[in-house]
Amino acid sequence: MTSPIPNLPSLQQLPEWKRFADAAEAASVRTNDLRILDAAGINVDITGQVASEELEAAGQALLEARQFGQLRSTLLSGGIANLTEDRAAWHTVLRAPAPIADVAAERQRMNEFVRQADSERRWRNIIHIGIGGSDWGVRLAINAFGYAGAWRHVRFAANIDGHAMQGALAGLDARETLVVLASKSFTTAETLQNGQRAREWLAAAGLENPGEHMAAITARPDLAAAWGIPQAHIFKLWDWVGGRFSLWSSVSLTTALAVSSDVVAGMQAGAAAMDNHFAQAPFAQNAPIQMAMAGVANRSVLGYGSLNIAPYDFRLAHLVPYLQQLDMESLGKSVDIAGNPVGVPTGPVVWGMPGTDAQHTFFQWLHQGSDGAPVDFIVCQQADHSWPDHHTSLLANCLAQREALLNGKTFDEAQQESLHAGADAQHAPWLAKHRVHAGGRPSSLVVLPKLSPYTLGALLALYEHKVFVQSVVWGINPFDQWGVEYGKVLAKGIVQELAGARPGPDEGQRHDASTRHWIEEFRKS
Ligand code: F6P
Repeated sequence: MTSPIPNLPSLQQLPEWKRFADAAEAASVRTNDLRILDAAGINVDITGQVASEELEAAGQALLEARQFGQLRSTLLSGGIANLTEDRAAWHTVLRAPAPIADVAAERQRMNEFVRQADSERRWRNIIHIGIGGSDWGVRLAINAFGYAGAWRHVRFAANIDGHAMQGALAGLDARETLVVLASKSFTTAETLQNGQRAREWLAAAGLENPGEHMAAITARPDLAAAWGIPQAHIFKLWDWVGGRFSLWSSVSLTTALAVSSDVVAGMQAGAAAMDNHFAQAPFAQNAPIQMAMAGVANRSVLGYGSLNIAPYDFRLAHLVPYLQQLDMESLGKSVDIAGNPVGVPTGPVVWGMPGTDAQHTFFQWLHQGSDGAPVDFIVCQQADHSWPDHHTSLLANCLAQREALLNGKTFDEAQQESLHAGADAQHAPWLAKHRVHAGGRPSSLVVLPKLSPYTLGALLALYEHKVFVQSVVWGINPFDQWGVEYGKVLAKGIVQELAGARPGPDEGQRHDASTRHWIEEFRKS
C-alpha cells in the first residue's frame, strides 16, 4: 500500500449534506414538470422523482463538497480509484475507441480467435464457466441478442451445485465443444471446481489434447497455463478491472463466439458514448448524476430501503441480477473511505423482474404495500418482432403501472368507482378504503430507441456511473467487496472440515452451535 489513508469529512457533518437532506424532504414529485435527459441516445425520464430548484442546487453543492469532479477524473483516467486495494478501476479504457496498447492488442487477439473459429466453423458448443461478473454480463448479452442465425449452442455453469455442471455437460459432444473459463482471479472455487469437471469430461471423451478444447480469460495467465490451458487460448485482463466490470474485457469471448464480435464492439461503443456523456454533460443534464442524486434522496433521506428494476423487455431477463451485483456489491457497505461509519443508509436492496411478469408477482406490494420502493422502468420504443399489437400492449402496461404509482387514486375516485361497479351506498366507502392508492411513489423511465448492442452498452454504463456517483456522496469505496471475500475464506475451512479434517482449536471454537451441529451431520452424508 502506498497511498495515504484518506481523510474524508463525515457526510453528516457537512452543511451541504444537511442542506441536501432538508431539500429532499421538502421536495415533491412534480408530475407536470417534464424532465427528460438525453444520454448517449437513451432517454432518461426523471419526472417521477422528487424535485425542486433547491434540491438541484443542494445536490450540486454536495457533489462539489465531496470533490466529485476530481474523483471522476481519477476514475476515468485510470488513477487509483480503488483505495483499499490500491489500484485503478479503469473499466472505461476497455471500451474506449482508442484504448491503451495492451487493451487494443488483447481485443485484437480475441477478435482473431473468433474470426478463425468462425471461418473453420469450429466449436458447435460453448460451455461458459464463470460466476458473478464473469457470468452475468455474458448471459445478459447473449440473451438480449439471441440466437437468430447463430449456429453455436451456449451453456452456462456458474453455481457450485453439481446439478449446474451436470446440466451444462449433458448430451454434448466433447469433440465439438469449447470450454471457456472466465475468472479474473483464477482462484474462485466455483469456477475451478466446475472447470475440473469439464476437464475430466473432455479427458474421458478420449480427446487427444483436451487443453485445446479450453480457453481462459483471467488476470492470472500463469495460473491458467499451469492448469493446462494453452497460451494461445489465454486472454488477459488486468488487476485494475473489477470483476463486476469485466464484461468489457475478453470475458465477452463467449458473447463474441455466440452472437458475434460486432455485438461486443457495439456494446463497447455505446458504453464509451455514455462515458463521454458522464464526463461532459453539465450537472442538470447528466443522467448518471441525476439518477444517482435521486437514488441518494430516496435511500438516505426518504427512507426507501430498496430499488426495483422493471425492464419491460423480455430479452433483458438477466439485467436484474447483473444490476444487483453492480449496485449491491459496490454499495453494500456502511463504512466510508476514512474508516468511519457513513451514518446514513447506503446502497439499497436491488430487485426486480421483467414486466409484465412482475405485475403478476409483486407489483401489488409496490402499489399498496406499506413500504413501497422506487422503480426504474426500462423499455424500448421499438421492438424487433413483427407483432405490433404485442409491443403496444407492452408499452401501455409500462406506462400504466408507472402512472398508477405516480398519481395514485383518491378516496373519492375509489368510491365513485365502487358505486359505478354496483356497490351500494353502505359498501362503497368500505370498498373505497381498499382501492385507495397513495400515489407519489417515485420512479424513473429509461427509454431505449430499440435494443441494440449500442443501447445496451450505454444502459449498463449509465448504471455503472450512477453507482459511482452515489459512492462519492456516501464516501465509500465501490470497488472492493471484503464481505464476499470473508465468506469465501470461511467456506474453504468448512469444506475441509466436511471432508474430515478436524478444525484447529481456534477455528472449532469460532463455529456457533448450529454450524458445529450441521458440520457433524453433513459429514455423515
Ligand atoms: O462475488 C465476488 C467476486 O469477487 C466478484 O466480484 C467477481 O465477479 C466474482 O467473485 C468472480 O470472481 P473471478 O472472476 O475472480 O472468478
